[in-house]
Amino acid sequence: MRRVLLWLLLMLLPLTAQAATLTADANDMQREMSDTLYGLFFEDINCAADGGLYAELLQNRSFEYENILNPQRADHYTAWRINTTPEGKAQWSLMNESPLNESNPTYLRASVEEGSLRLMNQGFATGALRGGIAVQEGQSYDFFIYLRSQGFSGCVTAAVTDAGGNPLCESVSFTPGETWTKHTAAFTAAKDADAWLCITIQGQGSVDVDMLSLMPADRVGKDWPGGGLRTDLVEALKALHPAFLRFPGGCVAEGSYTRDNEYNWKHTIGPVEQRQENPNTWGGMQTYGLGYYEYFCLAEELGALPLPVVHAGMLCQAREPREADYTLDEVRAYAQDILDLIEFAIGGADTTWGALRADMGHPEPFDLRYIAIGNENWGTGYFTRYGILSKAVKEKYPDITCIVAAGPVAEGALINDSWNNIRAKFADSLVDEHYYMDSLWFPQHVNRYDSYPRTTQVFLGEYAAHEPVQGTARPSNLRAALCEAAYLTGIERNSDVVRMAAYAPLLAREGQADWTPDLIWFNGTDVLLTPSYYVQQMFSSTLGDWVVASFLDDESLFHVVTRTESSVQVKVVNLAENEVPLTLRLNGVADGEGKTTTLSGEMKATNSFVKPLKIAPVEGACPVQDGTAEALLPACSVTIFEFPLQ
Ligand code: AHR
Repeated sequence: MRRVLLWLLLMLLPLTAQAATLTADANDMQREMSDTLYGLFFEDINCAADGGLYAELLQNRSFEYENILNPQRADHYTAWRINTTPEGKAQWSLMNESPLNESNPTYLRASVEEGSLRLMNQGFATGALRGGIAVQEGQSYDFFIYLRSQGFSGCVTAAVTDAGGNPLCESVSFTPGETWTKHTAAFTAAKDADAWLCITIQGQGSVDVDMLSLMPADRVGKDWPGGGLRTDLVEALKALHPAFLRFPGGCVAEGSYTRDNEYNWKHTIGPVEQRQENPNTWGGMQTYGLGYYEYFCLAEELGALPLPVVHAGMLCQAREPREADYTLDEVRAYAQDILDLIEFAIGGADTTWGALRADMGHPEPFDLRYIAIGNENWGTGYFTRYGILSKAVKEKYPDITCIVAAGPVAEGALINDSWNNIRAKFADSLVDEHYYMDSLWFPQHVNRYDSYPRTTQVFLGEYAAHEPVQGTARPSNLRAALCEAAYLTGIERNSDVVRMAAYAPLLAREGQADWTPDLIWFNGTDVLLTPSYYVQQMFSSTLGDWVVASFLDDESLFHVVTRTESSVQVKVVNLAENEVPLTLRLNGVADGEGKTTTLSGEMKATNSFVKPLKIAPVEGACPVQDGTAEALLPACSVTIFEFPLQ
């Protein structure tokens, strides 16, 4: 508390810089750190999956959109524009007799008497932003479509076009057969454009259309059954060096209001055409092209441990009214679903679900070590269900660690009650805390975990510093990022207790944010990294193995000193509006030069698509002689020093 008062005072007074001294002894190792501390939480919110990381450029590609949770957000014709030439000489309707498959029941039937029917899809960039699919000159795009015809003479052509239907690539023609057939093509864009996918059905008779896809040829996971992921976003995730990937939610993992909305992992695997779409509680739909198999593959691609979250036989408790929780008999039956999921991840190719994984392209098991049962749950009903489900997991898979939810808040009766239940009954579970708090809460609570019993294991599954709303959103500014950085010094000091931590939410598409702030923004062409992203990156790429003894004589600064086998990491956060000269006295450090990485600027500064690097880390050097180094901490900054050990 004294530290916070001091710091508030410093923020208010235009002070001349006062020198501070940080002393540390690299040989006095106090606590071992978690090597899984920094990871990612991915949820399909803000178009993070469909319209985001998932490389599909078409929206509502199989006419299945029907969002019973948000009817205004999605229906069967979302993103499609249909017209005929001449007018009135062709009709279209949605059908579901003899569909492509039972999971994908709706298709479009075009009946052409004369002339042509044109079917155009504008992708995900809808609303106030420029419409269309951002294609880039010289880039190739992989396309497929399922067609079937009845007594049709003529042809079906496909092309990437402008909004008026003028081709931006060479078009390709297909002759539909009498049964559902997949037709493929590759397009190369002639120029950068906001494009549409245009299907022209010309001739006489009727043609059925279903399940189309347009993806950039340059994508990650091309051979994954879902089709793959956007390369630039995967690269942005990789650069965070995540130790784990928590997925698929969040509230999405639980489902909202009705059991029909539960996230059923079995609907998200197998051939992509057979995955059963589901409304997304945040808007839009979930096509599940990024499904459980792809999540596991993504984790592997990122070098991260997969950390699935399954529901606990309860819909999202924050959303009412909701259908009844599973009865205890239903919970016992549902446990098999979770066991099947684990078998899918790690079972041999001779097991039912392991065989399916092998068929999908991954004969070796995935490195599954954790499973979270429940997201933001609380109360007796939850803990009873968690008890049944975690017991079933433990009995069959004793090496898998179960993660129990502690609820959606940082403080108060709810979380205290959760902790009482957990300490009494689930002491071997990792405990999932979530909190989104005002930015200043974070530096004020930097010591939160100092008092946790050292046998406790926390998974900080969701957190972010929230600034006051400006206009319609909470900005991702430097102040929020620095408050998170200050807090992370406390997390690192306590990483014997806090084993894992993930910022939330991870991704947001420009113009489609359901929730702010978010760590990474993107549009059709660009990726925008926030100051909070850089804090995560700076901390995760300088993770130590041990916390070492240290003391800083300026209580307005936040710091932690750690070490590995070969180097010392000193992290210092200066939240004040003045620079601070800092003397470092570090026992055990070799003479020579240390590396510095600094993030600083104006507290309210944000990055934007126009100025994406306004706040970005800057690297420098810091000479060190006889264990002493001198530095100047900029106003409003976080600096990470790395010194080689003797
Ligand atoms: O991260 C956004 C949401 O916040 C998650 O879906 C939920 O778990 C939390 O309330």
